[in-house]
Amino acid sequence: MTNKKILWVSLAIVVVILVGAAIAYYLMAMAPKKPVVAVIPPKEEINALTIYEWWTSPGESAALNSLVALFTKQYTDTAVLPTSVVGGAGYSFLSVIKPLVTSGNPPDSFQMHAGYEGVPYYDANLLNPIDDIWQSQNLEAVIPKVVQDMTKFGGHYYSVPVDIHRANLIWYNKAALDKNKIDPLTLTTWDAFFAACDKLKAAGMQYPIQLGDTWTAAQVLEQIFAGEGIDFYQNWVNGKVTDPTDPKLLDAIQVYKKYITYVNPDNLGLSWNDAIDRVIKGDSAFNLMGDWANGEFTVAKLNYGVDYGVFAPPGTQDMYALVIDTFERPKNIQHPTNADRWLKLVSSKIGQDTFNPLKGSISARTDADVSKYNPYQQAAIADFWKAKYMYPSVVHGSGAPEDFKVQFENLIAGFFANQDVNKLAQDMTTYTAEISDKYTIKWSLQ
Ligand code: GAL
Repeated sequence: MTNKKILWVSLAIVVVILVGAAIAYYLMAMAPKKPVVAVIPPKEEINALTIYEWWTSPGESAALNSLVALFTKQYTDTAVLPTSVVGGAGYSFLSVIKPLVTSGNPPDSFQMHAGYEGVPYYDANLLNPIDDIWQSQNLEAVIPKVVQDMTKFGGHYYSVPVDIHRANLIWYNKAALDKNKIDPLTLTTWDAFFAACDKLKAAGMQYPIQLGDTWTAAQVLEQIFAGEGIDFYQNWVNGKVTDPTDPKLLDAIQVYKKYITYVNPDNLGLSWNDAIDRVIKGDSAFNLMGDWANGEFTVAKLNYGVDYGVFAPPGTQDMYALVIDTFERPKNIQHPTNADRWLKLVSSKIGQDTFNPLKGSISARTDADVSKYNPYQQAAIADFWKAKYMYPSVVHGSGAPEDFKVQFENLIAGFFANQDVNKLAQDMTTYTAEISDKYTIKWSLQ
């Protein structure tokens, strides 16, 4: 074949290829477009349990971890995924958990105080009743009636208690008191308590009382209210303290005004456990705090009655301020089977006797193995059963509508600035009257 012929044949082949490519392109371009669907292999449903809570202090996290370890031991194929929101008493927690639950994206279960804290979720029909859990675990036989009543709405159970904490307690560093010959058993009136503070100041302890951030300040006034008598406290939580000239109200705020003259000026923004740490170290003498503080003394390996002690705020000696953490079964959860397993575990004897000795609280069950609890907790169990009165904490979500709890803390913050007793009384009682329709729980504490 001559060169000329080869050239013509090659040219022809190129032309055929180009024409073929053009036809192919045209056909593809005209073909109906099908969506390109990335085919993702079916995701293995992760066998998990999502939990939300605010337990981040050394004592709190040790207690939480013990529960998670117990669950994981029982259900080795399940990944427990706790989300711990920093901020004592759940004040920061609420702004995280409420949007999740109300938007239909709840965790499988979350920390919630008994009483009023569950009302917004219950009213919005976002919780499942769990009478089945209470029945299958025979919980009514071992959970005290006062706790049963605080975990019910509309006659049905909506949560299980994981602990019973007590809030009316003043913790003290025993060495600091012994050194200054202060007998804690004599501190039964506010005047006696303040005289002890004066003695400690004179001995060089500039701030004998430690205070953490704002909710701990509100917690102090709450216990002073209880010290005015259970009738006054019952009126307060039933929204009946609406007279700004109420003598018990004014007396309590006057005591509070004196109390805060002894506290550390860096209290705003100081976490509750940083405040109790100063008592643990002996840098200060007193801290009014719930018995989750006992969890911090335990982690610090201090011995109750030897290194530290506790007494009730004046006027509340025969009372038990209830702070009860619970877990519930929200609607629209991802892992209902695991949620039910969690609820059964936290309310079980082994769950309670694993968690509470570390948490500083007492078991929510009457069949606790008392030998697992430290001497403070053994005394607290005895106190629980001999207490003349029990009252729900407002600061810890149980005793009053959420709106009041938040406003109460705001008013306390304002009082630190203006120290105006009558203004606090006026603002608090005015607000109580404004939200009177929200007081839907009728407390009977006597
Ligand atoms: C309470 C809660 C306790 C403990 C404490 C300090 O409201 O019930 O479990 O966490 O706050 O954060």
